[in-house]
Amino acid sequence: MALYSEKVMDHFMHPRNVGIIEDADGIGEVGNAKCGDIMKMYLKIDNDVITDVKFETFGCASAIASSSMATELIKGQKVEDALALTNKAVAEALDGLPDYKMHCSVLAEEAIQSAIEDYQKKSKEKN
Ligand code: FES
Repeated sequence: MALYSEKVMDHFMHPRNVGIIEDADGIGEVGNAKCGDIMKMYLKIDNDVITDVKFETFGCASAIASSSMATELIKGQKVEDALALTNKAVAEALDGLPDYKMHCSVLAEEAIQSAIEDYQKKSKEKN
């Protein structure tokens, strides 16, 4: 079997939703201390629905593919559903990742959670 599925290769070569959102409602940045890879996630949220999402990832192919897939999975979703997205679900949507690359998908889960926490903190400050 090839190391990476076709979906991983597709999302790595043509990542969706790359970039930044200037007026994001929530921003999350996480990193993996071991490999040094970093992922930053920007969310635009309206009425508790994620209307837009962009990411910047400085990392390996699996991290880039995971961020790209994760953004596709949460776009248009409710905040609570995005919060429940697991790295396993991201990896499954990519038709799997090699075991030793699973930690790369964890970055996507954590980046989304961190961006949502930031959003929740900011909306509390507003009220
Ligand atoms: Fe670090 Fe993939 S090797 S996120």
